[in-house]
Amino acid sequence: MTEPLAPPTANRLYSWRGVGLVGLCASLLAFIHFATEPTTSSAADTPGSKAKEPTIGGFPLFNQWPKQNPDAVLVLTGQTFGFLQPCGCSRPQVGGLERRGMFIESLKAKGWPVAAIDLGDIYPEKPANRDQGMMRYVTTLHAMREMGYVAVGMGKTEIEGDILRLLSGYALQKQQRPFTLAGNAQAVVDGKVFKREDYFPGPGKRSSVELIEVAKIGKIPVGVAGVVGKSLADAVKTKKLDPAGALDFVPEANTLKQAVDELAKHPMKPQIQVLIYQGTSKEAAAVAKAWPQFHIILCQADGDLPPMMPQKAGNTLIVHVGHRGQHVGVLAAYKKQDGFDFRYQLVPMEEFYITPGTEEEARKKNKVLPLLEEYAVGVKKDIRLGKDYPRTPHLAQINALGFKQPVQLTYVGSDACKACHKAEHDAWGKTLHSHAMEALEKKATRPTLRQYDGECVRCHSVGFEHTRGYEDEKLTPHLKHVGCESCHGPGSGHVAKPKDKSLLPLLSLWKNPAAKNPATEKLPDVAFMAKMAKLTEFERGKEKVPAEISRLITATWNMCGKCHDHENDPHFDLYKYWPKVRHTGLAPPGGWPAVVPKK
Ligand code: HEC
Ligand code: HEC
Ligand code: HEC
Ligand code: HEC
Repeated sequence: MTEPLAPPTANRLYSWRGVGLVGLCASLLAFIHFATEPTTSSAADTPGSKAKEPTIGGFPLFNQWPKQNPDAVLVLTGQTFGFLQPCGCSRPQVGGLERRGMFIESLKAKGWPVAAIDLGDIYPEKPANRDQGMMRYVTTLHAMREMGYVAVGMGKTEIEGDILRLLSGYALQKQQRPFTLAGNAQAVVDGKVFKREDYFPGPGKRSSVELIEVAKIGKIPVGVAGVVGKSLADAVKTKKLDPAGALDFVPEANTLKQAVDELAKHPMKPQIQVLIYQGTSKEAAAVAKAWPQFHIILCQADGDLPPMMPQKAGNTLIVHVGHRGQHVGVLAAYKKQDGFDFRYQLVPMEEFYITPGTEEEARKKNKVLPLLEEYAVGVKKDIRLGKDYPRTPHLAQINALGFKQPVQLTYVGSDACKACHKAEHDAWGKTLHSHAMEALEKKATRPTLRQYDGECVRCHSVGFEHTRGYEDEKLTPHLKHVGCESCHGPGSGHVAKPKDKSLLPLLSLWKNPAAKNPATEKLPDVAFMAKMAKLTEFERGKEKVPAEISRLITATWNMCGKCHDHENDPHFDLYKYWPKVRHTGLAPPGGWPAVVPKK
């Protein structure tokens, strides 16, 4: 089960922890701090077409930046955790590589010289399938190359996902940007130390894991170094994060000194120094103090919501951009007599950046889209829906196996329920649940083929994550869409013995088994739900609701919440949604038939 779905959250607030901002006065900052409101363009309208350009704190992007073009612009991203696109389950959602691609194009269209770097943690945190995790990683790197990325870091998820395996999917194919920078990486195998260059050989002259890379952005050479911070380096050992058990890190101070030296004597003479630092913002501040040569440090996020402005440590700007690619940071450098003036803008990847035009036009315009389509084709081809994702027994299956006379429960499909529960079946047939797979087949377009991706199918079908649930449209056509058993659990036992009292509670596991009579435990009526739907969270808390009803509401909410979760349906509210799918009190006079009625 996923985390319980709390009642709707309050307005999102961007945290601001900037100190001494570049180019803006303190009073204005204080104002931004309080004025910061969610900036997501309001729902409705077709994606992209009418969406407004995002604002931050009520201010337009690049507000009060100098009139002239910046001399170099760095787009800073990180910790995307394998998120390629918003799922499209509920709108508006923020993030995705398509929008990032369009956004970077929009900067280039201003005549700005742009390059990008990424902190790492590109690989998913806990992929349901490792091969699919790899495909997400490789797709993201190809997309990054198209977007003009210079370098990426090596994060915890890459290490957990087996960095050698991941490098074989991209870095080892060809010597090409973006390069993976983690200068202090090495390996210890059977007590023998392997230097970075030896443990990570490259396809060309360079090692596949490097210390530095220098790139020209416009006319400005920019030096980038990558280092894994102490906390992550320690965790790799103490928590045994590397599946090969070999990865090891040289103390960061040694490598940072080497990086500073190598950048200083680099023939391209980099004028701006950037550090990709796989450590916390606190660690980054200490690094900034010890190595003031770095103008910018990109480090791990403190949380999902990034600060609006970089933290300043001495003259170094410490940037982190949150999780899942929902935001990107834009850092612009304006040359002045003795160095650079830096400006920073946090940008949420809202619907405004969806590629306009028909699918065909969009794919021509945005090079990320064909890559996403290629990914979808690969998932369909290489990852078998019914076989290659983990399945666990449903709690009802576990319980039924524990009976004195064990029962093996399986999924039978909604049609099997129709014979005796016609009214309930009719009610369900009128909801979108009964067509849920069509959302993947017809509505999801960028990319297409989502009905072959287990990471989507799991909530758009019956029992995908459980033993003998949905496999694919040929093997289990009766389990397509969200059916009776998506909520009630596998029903084979009940269908065979409808009057069996030991099986009935298994159909409604959200009910309290300790209740005097679980069968009579019912959600409140529609009038009550409608009344609650209109109240604020605070007002709801003041309503007097019997404890057992309150428990039932929470338990039902959580049951729905395994699909209507924060990620896929942040607007979910049981009081508003339940009336739309309700099918209580529809039993025919005399109750449901105990045997399938003859036609
Ligand atoms: C954790 C469960 C879950 C997963 C995983 C999931 N969805 Fe959904 N999806 C939902 C729910 C719940 C809704 C209904 C949201 C609503 O009614 O607001 C939905 C609705 C949709 C819709 C219909 C939106 C509309 O406007 O009608 C589309 C399209 C969709 N999902 C696509 C996807 C794709 C593509 C994926 C995989 C990348 C995916 N879903 C994965 C739960 C999920
Ligand atoms: C052969 C007829 C028949 C079929 C088929 C059938 N049911 Fe039932 N169902 C009944 C009867 C009879 C009851 C009432 C049992 C009782 O209270 O003794 C019932 C009760 C229920 C209840 C209420 C349980 C409770 O808490 O009291 C649920 C939920 C339910 N059925 C779901 C389903 C689902 C889901 C399916 C398909 C997988 C299904 N039924 C198929 C006859 C059937
Ligand atoms: C979205 C989840 C969901 C789906 C899908 C669903 N149910 Fe239910 N069902 C529930 C919940 C929740 C209750 C308990 C309602 C209550 O407490 O008043 C319920 C109650 C019932 C009851 C008892 C009704 C009563 O009057 O007490 C029956 C019978 C039933 N469902 C059958 C079905 C059948 C048959 C299907 C498919 C055609 C189905 N359900 C689909 C969630 C679902
Ligand atoms: C197995 C996953 C799953 C579960 C469990 C689930 N839903 Fe859904 N629900 C979906 C998906 C997927 C959609 C989107 C279908 C589409 O847009 O095609 C959806 C759509 C809906 C809608 C919009 C339907 C319409 O016809 O407008 C409502 C309302 C809803 N769900 C309520 C609930 C409630 C209430 C519960 C719990 C009692 C629940 N759902 C449990 C997956 C689920």
